[in-house]
Amino acid sequence: MFQILETRELADNIYLMVVEAKRVAKSCAPGQFVIVRMDQEGERIPLTICDYDRVSGSVTIVFQGVGAETKRMAAMKVGDAFHDFVGPLGCASELVSEDKETLKKKKILFVAGGVGTAPVYPQVKWLHENGVQADVIVGAKTKDMLILEEEMKKVAGNLYVTTDDGSYGRSGMVTQTIQDLVEKEGKQYDVCIAIGPMIMMKFVCRLTEQLHIPTVVSLNPIMVDGTGMCGACRVTVGGEVKFACVDGPEFDGHKVDFDQAMKRQQMYKTEEGRELLRFQEGSTHHGGCGNCGGDK
Ligand code: NAD
Ligand code: FES
Repeated sequence: MFQILETRELADNIYLMVVEAKRVAKSCAPGQFVIVRMDQEGERIPLTICDYDRVSGSVTIVFQGVGAETKRMAAMKVGDAFHDFVGPLGCASELVSEDKETLKKKKILFVAGGVGTAPVYPQVKWLHENGVQADVIVGAKTKDMLILEEEMKKVAGNLYVTTDDGSYGRSGMVTQTIQDLVEKEGKQYDVCIAIGPMIMMKFVCRLTEQLHIPTVVSLNPIMVDGTGMCGACRVTVGGEVKFACVDGPEFDGHKVDFDQAMKRQQMYKTEEGRELLRFQEGSTHHGGCGNCGGDK
């Protein structure tokens, strides 16, 4: 069992939990995710790691109470425990395996949208701890929905906060700030890492393609079981079929077919849609064994 050490509501319906998970904390890296299950009957929920402490053996997760299961999870208290806390899963961010001296010369821009700010944080923190200063844009719908601002301030080179309604920081969506930084404020970037809702990543990629900034995205939002079995996270990247939970979650954003991925995401929500996808995609529907019908 994996005990909850701390819980906090970061914003309306967005929760942070610090969980005792020594083995995960020991080996995880920025960009990876865990799968949690509250009890034996519980759904498997894939969540990107927000922070970890190798000394105390704890891992921090951030989640939104969207469905019945995450709302049930939000009601868990300090001292309660998860039945499963499996990880680290997925590939670590490519940044962590790059040569540090090369990284220090790179101009890196992170774009974090809403709850996607949580998986951006460990990457920026890791860079900061290794002497690399990255610029970070954090976007939220309103001031009240902004999360991890203070934490991010401590590790970002420059932090640009933007709210859709202009209630705090810059006004408008993250794409507006990217455009302003590059076109009006003379900023240049060698790479952009965008993590947030699919629609945000799609439009960030559309813009950075025009601006000639290579862009990495994290496709955590399309995962369902996170095991390569259900087929939910199937996505076309550069004309090839990939599975976000097995091959990702990070991909070259300019090669991702976002429209197809978002359409699949909608279809996957109903049994009829899942049946249709299975019919259309046949034996390539699943990322794992391909035959087990893991989403049943
Ligand atoms: P949100 O809807 O509040 O959007 C966050 C920001 O994204 C906005 O403030 C805006 O700046 C930007 N944005 C949104 N639509 C845009 C558009 N059309 N063009 C340009 N920018 C746009 O975000 P939220 O409600 O916190 O999002 C929740 C989503 O984030 C869920 O779908 C969840 O799955 C996803 N998420 C993703 C990851 C990941 O690893 N990619 C991690 C956690 C959560
Ligand atoms: Fe990747 Fe199910 S989430 S196959």
